[in-house]
This record gives sequence, C-alpha cells and structure tokens, in this order.
Amino acid sequence: MKKLNIAIDGYAGCGKSTLAKDLARSLGFTFVDTGALYRGITYAVLDAEVSIDATAVEAFLKQAQLRLDFHSDDNQLLLNGKDIEEVIRTDARIADHVSPVAAIPAVRDYLDGAQKAFVRQGGIVMEGRDIGTVVMPDADLKVFVTASIEERVNRRFKQLQDSGKVITREEVAKNLLDRDAKDAGREVAPLRKAADAIALDTSQFDRVQQLEVCLALVRPYLDPASYFRFMS
Ligand code: DC
Repeated sequence: MKKLNIAIDGYAGCGKSTLAKDLARSLGFTFVDTGALYRGITYAVLDAEVSIDATAVEAFLKQAQLRLDFHSDDNQLLLNGKDIEEVIRTDARIADHVSPVAAIPAVRDYLDGAQKAFVRQGGIVMEGRDIGTVVMPDADLKVFVTASIEERVNRRFKQLQDSGKVITREEVAKNLLDRDAKDAGREVAPLRKAADAIALDTSQFDRVQQLEVCLALVRPYLDPASYFRFMS
C-alpha cells in the first residue's frame, strides 16, 4: 500500500509540532519538523556572525558545509553532529532572527533537497509553513492549524517558563505576531493555507483531543488493518 504523506501548516505557537509529533507516533510515521531546520540555519548564521542579508547568507551557505540531521531516537536537531535542540528552542536571538533568515531564497533552496528527500521516502507527517503549498503540494492530507492568539501565547509562555527562561507574556506575543507577519508577508513560499487544506482551530482542544480529531481526519486514508495500531 502507498505510504501516506501528511502536511501540517499553521501560525507560530499554535501547537503544530506537538500535534504533528503525536500524529506521527500514533501512525508509526516519521515526524519532520521543518521549522527546526530553519532554526538550525539561523543558529549557524548567528554563530558565524554573518550579517542577515541575502547576499552574505548565500555566500556563507556556499562555503560552510553545514550538516543538519535529526537524532534518530529523540528527534533532536544536530548541526555537524552537535546537539543544538535546546538552544534553537529557547534562545531569543533565534526566535527573533529566524523569520528574516527563512525569507532568504538561498536558505529555502538550501533546505529544499533535504525536505524533498523525506517526501520521497513517504510515510511522513511534515510540519511547517509552506508544506501544503510548496514542499508537498500532492500531500494525501493537509491540515492548517490555527488557535487564538491568547491560547498561543499561553502555550508558548508555559513552554519557555518550563525550560527556565525569564520572559514576559508581552515579549512572547510580540515575537509570535512579528513572525506571523513576516512569514505570511514574504515573497518566497509565504505562510498560507493551501486551497485543499482542512482548517483546524485547536483553541478549545487539549493535546489528546487535537490528536483524536486529526486521527479522525486521517482514518479514511488508511488501510483498515492499521486502525488497530492507534486504537490499542
Ligand atoms: O515552526 P517554528 O516556529 O519552529 O518555525 C520557525 C520559523 O521558521 C518560522 O517563523 C518561519 C520558518 N519556517 C519557514 O519559513 N518554513 C517552514 N516550512 C517552517 C518554518
């Protein structure tokens, strides 16, 4: 049977990663967090003190020989073998610069091959901003996740607090809204809902409920024998 590919897109902090990860685990699929790849490039650019303009970043990518991999056990992001998962999630400099970096065409080209390789492999839940529109326009199922800004701020604030960060709700809200505006407003591969994506507002759902709703959306595409895996 053909391996399904599922695209999950949406705004910053709306719970896409948690949902995509839970869905992949339930289905026995590979979870691909493309935002982590953009964060990884941003980390490398800042670490090398390259200025964030298209020409400088393009030149850096040509000579830097970056290797980005996901650790096979826990999906942590590795840059040239070094675990950078924690820093890409919690360093405010990454959150502040990732959208301008992701808007540079050379950065998107750079990550295109790696993302397409996952798509060819099949059996993936891939999460990002342009997955249903650009990376996997032929995905079997596309979900566009939304949540109210209050709920998004609450979730991201709690996540950062739990990891020991000192940050205000206002700072979290500003970063989420700034990134949304930049991600949706850029020229290349802007964040938008694919015409054939299903919009899913998760504001009222907890983690288990949003997974259940998504599994209900996936079920019609699955071989009945595979129901047993996620029903048990
Ligand atoms: O999903 P995230 O918040 O970790 O993503 C970080 C940034 O990466 C996001 O603000 C925009 C960029 N991004 C992108 O441009 N395209 C993707 N497919 C995924 C992320």
